Amino acid sequence: MPANPTLLEARATRALEAIGETTPDELVALIERSGLRGRGGAGHPLAHKLAAARAAAATSGASPLVVANAYDADPASPLSRTLITRGAAAIVDGVAIAARIVASSEAIVYLHPDAKSERAAMERAIAERRPRLGGLDVTTALGPGGFMGGEESALMNVLESRRAMARQRPPYPAQQGVAMRPTLIGCAETLAWLPLIVDGGAAPLTKLVSVTGAVRAPGVYEVALGTTLGAILEKAGGADGALKGIHVGGPTSGILAASRADVRFDFEDLAAAGVHMGSAQVRAVPATACIVAEAARLWSYLERENCGICVPCRVGTARVTGILEGVQSQLGRESDLAWLGELGDHMAAFSLCGFGLTAPSILRTTMREFAADYRAHIDERRCPTGTCAVVRSRRYETMAQP
Ligand SMILES: Cc1cc2nc3c(=O)[nH]c(=O)nc-3n(C[C@H](O)[C@H](O)[C@H](O)COP(=O)(O)O)c2cc1C
Ligand code: SF4
Repeated sequence: MPANPTLLEARATRALEAIGETTPDELVALIERSGLRGRGGAGHPLAHKLAAARAAAATSGASPLVVANAYDADPASPLSRTLITRGAAAIVDGVAIAARIVASSEAIVYLHPDAKSERAAMERAIAERRPRLGGLDVTTALGPGGFMGGEESALMNVLESRRAMARQRPPYPAQQGVAMRPTLIGCAETLAWLPLIVDGGAAPLTKLVSVTGAVRAPGVYEVALGTTLGAILEKAGGADGALKGIHVGGPTSGILAASRADVRFDFEDLAAAGVHMGSAQVRAVPATACIVAEAARLWSYLERENCGICVPCRVGTARVTGILEGVQSQLGRESDLAWLGELGDHMAAFSLCGFGLTAPSILRTTMREFAADYRAHIDERRCPTGTCAVVRSRRYETMAQP
C-alpha cells in the first residue's frame, strides 16, 4: 500500500470515478484476479464474500449492509487504528466500492471503544468524502471492548444491541447477517486495498504487522507477504537480547522456537508451521521466558475473554488454564500432557468460532517446540528459567486420570 497520502488520494479519486463505469460483476472479477485475501486473520478471498452478499441481496430482496471491521481486538496490535491515522480516506473509499458492488446504501465502520481519536478521524474522513459517496450513508459504531468484540458474528450481535457472543454459521454474514440483512464484513485493512486494486489492478502484496516484545523498535510496520519472521524482527530494530521464541498471530496463535525465524509470514506458510496470521502481532519472546508460564498466561486470558456460548471452549479454556497453572506450580503429572493434547483437539474440532478453533495452536506449538520446558516442570519440579511463581497451591481433579 503506498504510504504517500497524496498518491493514495489521487488513486482513490480515480477509483471512485472508475466504479461508475464498471459493472459490479467486473469489479468482483478484478478483485478476484488481484488475489485479495482478508487481512483480519483468516485470509478469506474478499471477492467471494462480495459475490455472496450481492447474490443474497438479489435473491432475498433484503437491503445489504457493509461493515468495515476496524476493531483491533488484540490490544497489542493496533493495525486499524494506525491505518486510520495514516489514511482514513482509503477505508471510506474501500467501503464505497464494496457498497457499490453489493448494492448497499448503508455502511458502518466498527471500532473499539478506546479508539476515540481514531473514531473522530474516521468521521472527519467520512464527512470530507460525503459529496462523492453518491447517497451512501457511512456511520461509525463502537464495539463493547474485549477480545470477542472483533469476531464477525459477535460483531453482528453487538450491532443488534446484543452481547458480543458468537453465532452459528452457516448462514454466513454475507448470506444473512445484521438484522437478517446480507452483510459484507471486511477488515478495514482489507477494504482499504480496494481503491488501489480498482485503479490499476494493484497486487495486494503487503500486510500491516505489529512487532512487540524483545525488539529494539516495537511498532506497526508494513511488510511484504512472504517476509521471514526474522526479517520482520529486523525491521523493528532486531532482537533486544537472546530470543527463545517468536509468538505469531496474537492471543489465539502459537509460539515458534527462535530457530524458526526463516518461516515466511504468509497464510500458507504460517499454517504449515502450526500458527496463523490472526491479529498479525509478531512478538519476540526473550530467552529468559518460561514457555509454560507464557502458555498459562495466554490461556488465562482466553478463559476470561471467551464468550461462553459453546461448551468446548468455555469448559476447555478453564480446564487447560487449570492444568497449565498446575504444571507451572510444580503440581504437574505426566498425564497432563495427554490431557492438554486431548482438550486442544476437542476445542479445535467442536468450537463454534475462530477463537476456540484456533487457540489449541498455543498448546500444539509450545508442547512440540519447547518440550524441555514442560519436562523440567513435570519431571524435575523446577522452572527451567527460574522465573515461574506458584499460582496454584493444590490440584483439583474433575476427570479420571488416564
Ligand atoms: C476472537 C476474534 C477476534 C477478532 N477480531 C478481529 C478484529 O479486531 N478485526 C478484524 O478485522 N477481524 C477480527 N477477527 C476476524 C473476523 O471474525 C472476520 O473474519 C474479519 O473481520 C473479516 O474480515 P476479512 O475477511 O477482511 O479478514 C476476529 C476473529 C476472532 C475469532
Ligand atoms: S469458541 Fe469460545 S469464543 Fe467462540 S463461540 Fe465458543 S465460547 Fe464463544
